[in-house]
Amino acid sequence: MRTPFIAGNWKMNLSDNETVEFIKDISHKFENRNNIEIAICPPFTSLKSALDIIEEEMIKNESFKIMVGAQNMYFKESGAYTGEVSPGMLKSIGIKYVIIGHSERRELFGETDESVNNKIKAAFKHKIKPILCVGESLKIREEGNAVSHTLNQIKKDLQGISKEEAGSLTIAYEPIWAIGTGKNATPQDANEMCKAIRDQIKEIYGKEISENLTIQYGGSVKPSNIKELMAMPDIDGALVGGASIKVDDFLAIINY
Ligand code: PGA
Repeated sequence: MRTPFIAGNWKMNLSDNETVEFIKDISHKFENRNNIEIAICPPFTSLKSALDIIEEEMIKNESFKIMVGAQNMYFKESGAYTGEVSPGMLKSIGIKYVIIGHSERRELFGETDESVNNKIKAAFKHKIKPILCVGESLKIREEGNAVSHTLNQIKKDLQGISKEEAGSLTIAYEPIWAIGTGKNATPQDANEMCKAIRDQIKEIYGKEISENLTIQYGGSVKPSNIKELMAMPDIDGALVGGASIKVDDFLAIINY
């Protein structure tokens, strides 16, 4: 049985103070009716404050539990890489998850399958669980190549990753045309791709790993569409952008 996993990708939003206020607000209103795993991924500047305030709030509210993830990292340990943050640095403050290969990083910051693969390896080495983002552009979908494109990304991004490591991987299927556009994939289309991803993982790592793999859908997830997405057999969770920085929307999504 796979545990549903909802993660909020805050992108470049919310200051340090706003992060603390957001988490306090969530904690006061928090109920986890679905028994799911929840993570938020704030910008680097608020990661430590997020961890600290969550710890404080967990003492006050026993049912409150949220993990903290980063939105990116570099794969080297340290050195002359101006502007980058290493996996060891994330690990040292208690980060559990890291989003790798988000389409905004691939499209705007030149991230390639090779760098994604290096980052996935580095994350596992530091026991940080990667959320690997894959998905096609509108052009690729219209050309009829969405599945082959997405599965190719997975094959390249996971090269050299062991079966044991793959056991703690999350894959987020995020069609680029659905991100921040208000246009979400239909639950059926999203499920079809998530099923194809699961089959690909089965081919690489076998049945057990594929059946335990958490696959999220991402792209304009909102309180109004989360329930039907979560009802699909191969969708185990969501990577939520815009709606994850609104307390009431994020809570509604958690309690789909
Ligand atoms: P969105 O973003 O929910 O705002 O579409 C999702 C994402 O980019 O992870």
